[in-house]
Amino acid sequence: MILPIVGYGNPVLKKKAGEIDQSYPNLKELIDDMWETMYNASGVGLAAPQVGKSIRLFMIDASPFEDEEPDLKDFKKIFINAQILEETGEEWLFNEGCLSFPDLREDVMRKPKIRISYQDENFETREEEFEGIAARIIQHEYDHIDGVVFVDRISPLKRRLIKNKLTNIIKGTVNPAYKMKFAQRK
Ligand code: NI
Repeated sequence: MILPIVGYGNPVLKKKAGEIDQSYPNLKELIDDMWETMYNASGVGLAAPQVGKSIRLFMIDASPFEDEEPDLKDFKKIFINAQILEETGEEWLFNEGCLSFPDLREDVMRKPKIRISYQDENFETREEEFEGIAARIIQHEYDHIDGVVFVDRISPLKRRLIKNKLTNIIKGTVNPAYKMKFAQRK
C-alpha cells in the first residue's frame, strides 16, 4: 500500500525517533509499504518518520546511481536501530533532494566515509563501512531518524533564499507526483 509522505513542517520530521524490536506491530507490512511508497515516488531512500512513524527504520535502494558508481547496482538495504559510529574524511558537496521537500534540491556538505552499526530486517546486528554516494544517502536518511532534515545543514543565507519554497511545502501549495500529507493542509 502506498502511504502518504509527510511534508516539511510536520512535527514528526523534527523528532528523534525511537528504537524498535521484533515485537513492533506489523513491521513486515510497514517495510513492504515503505518500499512501495519509495519506488512510487522515485526515491532512493525513505525513513519511517517520512510516513509518520517515529521509529529508527530507513531503507535505501541506490541502484539509480549505478552509472556514477557501478557497485551501487545491487545496493538495496534496510537499516533498523542504526547508529553512525564514525564519520571521516574531508567534507564534500553533493546535491541532495528529499521526498518530504518536493521540487527542492540543495548542495549539502558531509564527510565521505562512515562506520555504522544497525540491525537488518532479521534483527541481525551488523557493523559496516560505507563511502561515496552510499554513505551520502545513509547520512541523509539517518538524519531523518534523528529529527534532522537536509535544509538544516545549509547556510542561513541559503535557507533565506528558499524561504518561499519552504512555506509552499508547509502549506501544501506544491504539486508532487506522489501522495503527500502537508503540515497545513487537510
Ligand atoms: Ni529525505
